[in-house]
Parts: sequence; structure tokens; C-alpha cells
Amino acid sequence: MATDHTSVAGFLADEAATLHLGQTLANCLQAGLQLQLHGDLGAGKTTFTRGLLRGLGYSGKVKSPTYTLVESYSLPMATVHHFDLYRFNDPREWFDAGFADYLASDSLCIVEWPQKAAGALPAPDMSLELQMANDGRNYRLVAHSETGNACLARYQTLTAAS
Ligand SMILES: Nc1ncnc2c1ncn2[C@@H]1O[C@H](COP(=O)(O)OP(=O)(O)O)[C@@H](O)[C@H]1O
Ligand SMILES: [Mg+2]
Repeated sequence: MATDHTSVAGFLADEAATLHLGQTLANCLQAGLQLQLHGDLGAGKTTFTRGLLRGLGYSGKVKSPTYTLVESYSLPMATVHHFDLYRFNDPREWFDAGFADYLASDSLCIVEWPQKAAGALPAPDMSLELQMANDGRNYRLVAHSETGNACLARYQTLTAAS
């Protein structure tokens, strides 16, 4: 039977589990990829990104880009741009801020509140949905491109082996 790599879902019992998901997924990503993070305020998007950056070898402090809109990290695999577009009033701000240039083949873009740039931001390679569930979070990772599919396949291989 063919394996379906288009989505993976699960439960994250606590903050450590969200960090772990990010850290594990970091090993499966590649430069040029755009990952969109969906979920309410406090769902764990920034926590997940913290784990992801740690998994990419960054050991410093990860600030939420709530006010700065973007925080960038120059790491061995790629320059990582972590966006939080919550404060956008209009999707055109994506172009006005010059963010279109940040999506490059040597960068990895992680976007919180992508719906705030609807129509301006290109379709993602992968998305993560986080939803409050009792004291934890439900998550779903979805691939939207060949690149995203390849990453999700690596993730499934990695987690099946452990
Ligand atoms: N799986 C989880 N279960 C319970 N609490 C979590 C989980 N993941 C993260 N948290 C907590 O929820 C909050 C999420 O905050 P944050 O990551 O800033 O959310 P967002 O960026 O989506 O607004 C943090 O207080 C974090 O400790
Ligand atoms: Mg956040």
C-alpha cells in the first residue's frame, strides 16, 4: 500500500511536546521552504518555532516577532525568517515591508498569522495547525507542495523509527 505523506496529526500533551515537535521537524526541513502556522493566540505557534530553531542549532533566545513582525536567524542550513503578521491591517503590508524578498531559495520562512497577508503571501510548502484540546494541543501537519511532501515523508520516517 502506498504511504500517504500529505498529512500527519497527533496530540501534544504539554509545552515540552510542542518544543519536541519543532525540534524533530527541524531535521526534515530544507532551505527554500515556507511553513505557515495556524492557531489561536496562545495555541503554541511561537513555542513550536522555538523548538524548531533549537533543532536547527540555534541556542540563543527566541523572541516572539509580535512587534517587530519578523525575527531573522543566520543558521548553517539557512537564514530563518520567523514572521508574526498579527498586527497587519492590510495584506498589502507584506509588499510594503519588502517581505516578498525574504522568500528565497536559501531561506526558510516560518509564518504566524499568514491569513493576515492573504493574497500577498504565496501558498506554503507546509502548514501546521494547532488547536487547544483540554490541557494540551491537537496538531496537524499538512504538505502543500512536492518540497513539503518530501519533508513530511522524512518526518514520518524519522518518527516511525523512534
Ligand atoms: N502542547 C501544549 N500543551 C499545553 N500548553 C502548551 C502546549 N504548547 C505550548 N503551550 C503553552 O501555551 C502557550 C503558547 O504560547 P505561544 O507559543 O506564544 O502561542 P502563539 O504563538 O500561538 O500565540 C505558552 O504558554 C506555552 O507554554
Ligand atoms: Mg506567537
